[in-house]
Amino acid sequence: MIKILVVYASDHGSVEKMAKSLVEGVKAVPDCEAVLKKAEDAKMDDLVSCDALVLGSPVHMGSIDWRVKKFIDTVCSGAWMQDKIVGKVGAVFASGAGYGGGGGGCELTMLALLNNLVELGLIIVPLPKSTPGYHAAGLQWGPYGRAHADDLSPKGLSDDQLVSSHHHGKHIARAAKALRGSAIFG
Ligand SMILES: Cc1cc2nc3c(=O)[nH]c(=O)nc-3n(C[C@H](O)[C@H](O)[C@H](O)COP(=O)(O)O)c2cc1C
Repeated sequence: MIKILVVYASDHGSVEKMAKSLVEGVKAVPDCEAVLKKAEDAKMDDLVSCDALVLGSPVHMGSIDWRVKKFIDTVCSGAWMQDKIVGKVGAVFASGAGYGGGGGGCELTMLALLNNLVELGLIIVPLPKSTPGYHAAGLQWGPYGRAHADDLSPKGLSDDQLVSSHHHGKHIARAAKALRGSAIFG
């Protein structure tokens, strides 16, 4: 089986909803399974045994949630030191309130996550704009679920905001399946 590891943090449930939709997308691809872990529970064994690592974070102060960053700094860094996960597949998603016309730091958050995955030597799966649900919850970096209304009151995520996460899961699973066993990096 191809194993997709999804590591996330969530206080109010939006990132968790996206993670679960992504997991369903993974499971829709034959021979693929997903392992869903809160950032504080994910361990080195999970990383080494997966074919793809997906990170999901809320936007906090325009950047990554500290629990996801702690996972990166304490668990992923060990893999980085020994080049243990080079050539696996990587992808990201995020949820935020969308404070301000610029999105409140959602792009910075996803780019910060992606930067860490690239540092680890992962092959990145983006979110093409042709992806179903992109119009409701998509950026080229990955699914972005805006969980607050224009007046900034929290509204949570509607079903149409979860469609892109589902398809992101499918794309990641297909990429991991296609790349399994490929010796890309020397
Ligand atoms: C400490 C804190 C900081 C936040 N900072 C931002 C921010 O800078 N930009 C933004 O758009 N949303 C911000 N938010 C809102 C969350 O990103 C948003 O509610 C998100 O949907 C939370 O995801 P969750 O439901 O999975 O916890 C912040 C929320 C918290 C609790």
